[in-house]
Amino acid sequence: MAQEVIKIRGGQTLKGSVEINGAKNSSVAIIPATLMAEAPVTLDGLPQISDVETLVSLLGDLNIKTELNGTTLSVDPTQIENAPLPNNKVESLRASYYMMGAMLGRFKKCVIGLPGGCPLGPRPIDQHIKGFKALGATVDESSMTSMKIEADRLIGANIYLDIVSVGATINIMLAATRAEGQTIIENAAKEPEVVDVANFLNSMGAKITGAGTSSIKIVGVSHLHGSRHAIIPDRIEAGTYMCIAAACGESIHIDNIIPKHMEPLTVKLKELGVTIETGDDYMIVQAAAPYKSVDIKTLVYPGFATDLQQPITPLLFLANGPSFVTETIYPERFRHVQELQKMNGLITADRGTATVKPSQLTGAEVYASDLRAGACLIVAGLLAEGVTTIYNVKHIYRGYTDIVKTLKALGADIWTEQVEA
Ligand code: EPU
Repeated sequence: MAQEVIKIRGGQTLKGSVEINGAKNSSVAIIPATLMAEAPVTLDGLPQISDVETLVSLLGDLNIKTELNGTTLSVDPTQIENAPLPNNKVESLRASYYMMGAMLGRFKKCVIGLPGGCPLGPRPIDQHIKGFKALGATVDESSMTSMKIEADRLIGANIYLDIVSVGATINIMLAATRAEGQTIIENAAKEPEVVDVANFLNSMGAKITGAGTSSIKIVGVSHLHGSRHAIIPDRIEAGTYMCIAAACGESIHIDNIIPKHMEPLTVKLKELGVTIETGDDYMIVQAAAPYKSVDIKTLVYPGFATDLQQPITPLLFLANGPSFVTETIYPERFRHVQELQKMNGLITADRGTATVKPSQLTGAEVYASDLRAGACLIVAGLLAEGVTTIYNVKHIYRGYTDIVKTLKALGADIWTEQVEA
């Protein structure tokens, strides 16, 4: 069977501008949330990625009418049916777990397959389940392939998350929106995507306050009306292009950014020595290697994002000494390390920390084990001498709109080829 690969001949200087798309991790929660409305909803600014297509198709499985036109999605949930969703679409992405909170809120019942997603080590959903149970649901996990969640009544509760979790915070917020009375989520995730989902739910008539802080209050409502909502810009896509610009950019203009969301990365790039000019909704980033070595530790927002840990790593090969990258969210999120070694990168990973030493990368055949590992290999390929071939690019297409076309327009020597698997 043929598969697509991405090939990059490194060493070009990139110039021009990039327009950032809507946030993947908002979109993948907001699309399921549309099923809670009792009237049509329109979403603007969606990224054109396969995870969006998969979720739209899952809405179709519930007899919801959808029309995806470029970056705009129209959803008409008025004929919705509560069908079981134990299928391979659910397993193809992580965010399908948001169908649980949305369907539980709307129907008080759902049967759904187990979520998949990037292999980043263990990714339990115990905090989501703890939240659903606190709201009065029973959760049947006896099947190996699906879960049944149901409640006679959903009743607001005080829920303290043992771990700060984006997914659990959003999923509980979804279900609690239709619970009777007040729910408080303590130790909630503060990521901008949580705020975007809360704003969307409020635009449909929900009563959520405190999103963006560690304590979110949700007063349940009995109906959600239609709405039109624009997705916030993707801070991880923006961050990836900032890393690309820092690797080999000459004044790359990155538009449609919320600079505040970029701060944890901007600070680190400036520490390296990257030249960055910040405007109201844009940044201009220019490579200025050789860089100073830096240490990075991933943390929940507003700390340094785990999703940018892999894309920033190739920049550390351009530093004047060893750098250390510590991953605290997913301590096993280091599957890019062996691929970078194939490219002659002096990098090792041990017990949650990677050590990166100055190196000249060379082209090689490498595998994208997950979405952000794929982004990391693209940055590395742009820096390497010779041609890099990236396999398993389906992961990259799950999260980056037209990345090959965008990089080509900036002057990268990048193309796709079909090869025998
Ligand atoms: N965790 C638990 N129990 C839970 C939930 C989470 O132990 O019930 C742990 C996780 O194993 C992890 C930590 O808590 O160690 C944080 O996980 P979180 O729930 O915040 O992650 P997520 O919601 O599953 C989202 C993004 C990820 C991103 C993380 C962290 C989506 C669809 N995914 O995942 O994005 O890495 O938050 O910011 O929003 C990506 O875009 O490449 C990606 C993997």
